Amino acid sequence: MDDLFVHQLQDVYYAEKQILSALPKMIEKATNPSLKQGLQSHLGETETHVQRLEQVFEMHGAEIKTTKCPAINGIIEEANEVAGDVEDKQVLDAAIIASAQAVEHYEITRYGTLVAWAKQLGRADCAAVLEQTLREEKAADTKLTALATGGVNRAAA
Ligand SMILES: [Fe+2]
Ligand SMILES: [Fe+2]
Repeated sequence: MDDLFVHQLQDVYYAEKQILSALPKMIEKATNPSLKQGLQSHLGETETHVQRLEQVFEMHGAEIKTTKCPAINGIIEEANEVAGDVEDKQVLDAAIIASAQAVEHYEITRYGTLVAWAKQLGRADCAAVLEQTLREEKAADTKLTALATGGVNRAAA
């Protein structure tokens, strides 16, 4: 179980780094100012997510390293494909939100698991750090839903 926990940490550490490099391209393609700004502020949070994971590796006495995560690569690859296919700027905003929410839901499931496993392994301290990130992922997802249903989808349609 401990090995599995560390593996999952490495997996999400890889994913956060992939997200860090994918987000600037999404920000550049977005047109809606609130969407652009929301993604920009989540980019800042994502930098903190990487640092928190490094902190948890250290707290747990594990080596700071990545393990390739094909799941996040697939989500990002699909996001890029869809964005490349959409010409209309307003439809592109709706597509970017959908892709960003797929990323957030991926992160929510990973951090939810990590928090539960950390607690089970008697590492409430690690769980508390991971929970801070989980809260920010959920908040980012909620903000994206508000943008989509609050005007971006209507503008796209
Ligand atoms: Fe994150
Ligand atoms: Fe995120």
